[in-house]
This record gives sequence, structure tokens and C-alpha cells, in this order.
Amino acid sequence: MVTEVRRDMLQRMRIKGGKKLIGTIPISGSKNLSLPAMMAAIMTDKPLLLRNVPRLADVLSAMDLLNYIGVDVNWADSNSLELRCGSIKTTEAPYDYVRKMRASILTLGPLVARFKKASVSLPGGCAIGTRGVDLHIKALQQLGAEVEVENGYINATAPDGLRGCDINFTTPSVTGTENALMAAALANGTSRILNAAMEPEVIEFANLLNMMGANIVGHGSPIITIEGVESVRGASFEIMPDRIEAGTYAIAAVVTSGRVLLKGCVQDHLSSFLETVRSVGGICEPVADGILVYREQDEIRPISICTAQYPGFPTDLQAQYMVLMTIANGASSVTENIFENRFMHVPELCRMGANISVIGRTATVVGAHELSGAQVMATDLRASVSLVIAGLVAKGETVVNRLYHLDRGYENIEDKLNNCGAEVERLNV
Ligand code: UD1
Repeated sequence: MVTEVRRDMLQRMRIKGGKKLIGTIPISGSKNLSLPAMMAAIMTDKPLLLRNVPRLADVLSAMDLLNYIGVDVNWADSNSLELRCGSIKTTEAPYDYVRKMRASILTLGPLVARFKKASVSLPGGCAIGTRGVDLHIKALQQLGAEVEVENGYINATAPDGLRGCDINFTTPSVTGTENALMAAALANGTSRILNAAMEPEVIEFANLLNMMGANIVGHGSPIITIEGVESVRGASFEIMPDRIEAGTYAIAAVVTSGRVLLKGCVQDHLSSFLETVRSVGGICEPVADGILVYREQDEIRPISICTAQYPGFPTDLQAQYMVLMTIANGASSVTENIFENRFMHVPELCRMGANISVIGRTATVVGAHELSGAQVMATDLRASVSLVIAGLVAKGETVVNRLYHLDRGYENIEDKLNNCGAEVERLNV
């Protein structure tokens, strides 16, 4: 088991601000596609090879959970994972695994579909809001499973297998759609997911399932149709580049007045986000091997945004965008429509000199403030990277505490930043 990214809880990051990011950043494989793709291994006794998997703490947490269930999972090379679920030891996903990573809920669909039962701990409290799992549960119930929530566990059984049906999501859920896809792929008959999530990760995940022998059409639209099959097989599949990582570094490039080639970044996956970056004064030029991001003018225009499901502005880039607005020439607002408590970075950014006030789901950012280095606390994955970006542009030294959040989603972040001229250092105490 590779543990090198499972870093000490006390680790901190020291950033000496004021350096322009100039160079090339290779974009790693998508975390949010790797996790469901790994869970899809439960659906078959044949081997699944996933290439371009990032070495992140969340991937290691998923490996641990799959190991616990009885799936053989090993690194075939530096970024390829080999998974095989010949037989299993248990259909339980215990609290200790699920609490570390909410995406563990993705074991529910494939376990019930193939092994006819599952017992998955409720994810529990989450820093960015209540984040229910009712849609996951309802999807399985509609497919004919008996589901009870007892003692903090979702217990689901389907002794006669799942049967095709219409699954109607009241709100589009990314992992909810992925769970439903895995369950419906092995159900008896035809299913439709109505109001399905349309994120690129969902489309690519359906492509993976089809490569494994599932029969899915309509992914990328709000209605996905799944013709159930008796079994699926293994596959060899390349994980697409991480659009959120790419968007994060795009903002870092503009914030620092730098010039960065985001190598491998797919423009189509980030269209509305890149449009916003262009409208604030960033240049995002598609080139042969990615997107070149820089800024030509000194001034950043204040542009208000609202987060939304794909193809809208991604909630996972909201915290990073807010840093950009702190140096804009005027006031703007940032409205968070997906998660109700995703402004934990605001007080930390204010400690660095930002002028941000929050009312309900909307933060008002008064820009043109110079940020100054400070000690700050990371609270979740995207909040922590926003503090790193703030540190890159701030005057003086910033120390980001509780760095372990960052390691859940950003592969080799110090190397990627330092290779572009940043001065970033991981401190062990
Ligand atoms: C996924 C991403 C996460 C991203 C989020 C929104 C993964 C592993 N994680 O999370 O990075 O921030 O999409 O793009 O892919 N909801 C319910 N009941 C449910 C499920 C969801 O009410 O059963 C609500 C949530 O509280 C939220 C909305 O639906 O308001 C969308 O959440 P969802 O798409 O499910 O997020 P995740 O799949 O958990």
C-alpha cells in the first residue's frame, strides 16, 4: 500500500508571496472520476485497469475501503490502478472509512447490484453543509431494494435483484447519478434517470460502464436511459484530466499576473468558468497540448458569479474565484447555490486583509485590497487551496495550517507551484 500522500495532520504550508507563476503545470487525472471508477470494480469479477489515477489521499482512502471489502487493488505503475473483485469479504462499508471520504457512498449501488445487499455508514457531518444521501437511498428503493437507516447505517437488500424503473432526482446529484447508474446497469429491465447530473465526470463514468459492457445512452443530458445487463466485464480505461485542478491553477496564474500552460486541460469541460476568467481580464488561449492562461492588463474586473450544476460555474472553484475577486477593481458578489455552508474560507481570507461580508448564500467581495500574509486554517479541500492562492499573491509570508485537506485533492501541489517559480514549502510541525 502506498502511503506517501497520507501526511501528518500537523503539516503546514509556508508560502512566500509575490512571485508570478510562470511555466507549465501538468494536470493530473480527475479525482472525482477516479473515485466512482474505482468503485465500479465491485460490479465484476474481471480485472479493471484505470490509468492516469492521481495519487491523492482520497484515492488511498478508496483503496483502503475496497481492500476492506475484499477487492484486490494495487498500483500497476505510478498512476495506474489494477482492481479485481473476485469474491468479497463483506458488504459493509464501516463508519471509519466513510467518515474520511464521503464518496464511499458509491459502494452502495454496486454492492446491492451484484451482491444483493449492502450496509454503508451514513457519511455524517460535513464541513460544507448537511449534504444528505436521501437521493442515493431513494434511487435504490425505486429500483426495488428494501432500505432501512438504522444505527447510522444504510442497510439495503434486494434478494431477487434490482428491477428497472424511472429514477426521478429532485435535484441533480453527481454521485447520486453515478450510484444509480451502477445499480441500474445490473438491474433487470430498463431504467431512466430523470434530472440526472450532466457533469463531464458523469459522462466519462457512463462511458467507462459502457466499456465494461453496460448499455447506457443519454449521458450528458438530463435523461439517461439504462438497459440492464446480466453482468459486466473488466476494462482498461484512461481517467480524464481534472478540470477542477486545472481551474484552480488558471486562477493562480491570473491572480499572480503569471503565464501558465495547463497541460492536458480540456477546454470544453470548463467553458463557462473560462468565459468568466476571460471576462475579468484573464486570457485563456487553447493551444495544442492544453490551455495557456495569463493576463495582459493590470486591472481585474469585478464580475459576480453564482455557482450552479454543470454547465454552470462549479461550486468546487468558488473559493478560488473569491481570491481573484479580492484583487479586482471594485465590488462583486459570489452566490453559492449548491452547498449551504461553503464560505469557511471567508474569515481566513479576511485575516489576510480581504474585505468580504456574507449574508445567507451570498458573499460580497470588495476588491482592490492588497492581501497580506498571515497564519490561516484550512477547513476543507477547496477552501484550503484558496488560501494557498491567496498566499501566492499576498505580501509577506502565509502559513496554511491543517494541510491534510489539500492532500485529498491536489497531487504534487508544491512541486507544481515551485516549478513555476513559487516559493512554497511544506513544514512538518
Ligand atoms: C460531487 C463532487 C463534489 C462537488 C459536488 C457538486 C464527487 C466525488 N464529489 O459531490 O466535489 O462539489 O458534486 O458539484 O464527485 N443532495 C441531496 N441529497 C442527496 C445527494 C445530494 O440533497 O442524496 C444535494 C446536496 O446537498 C447538494 C446537491 O444535492 O446541495 C448536489 O450535491 P451532489 O451533486 O450530490 O454532490 P456530491 O455528489 O456529493
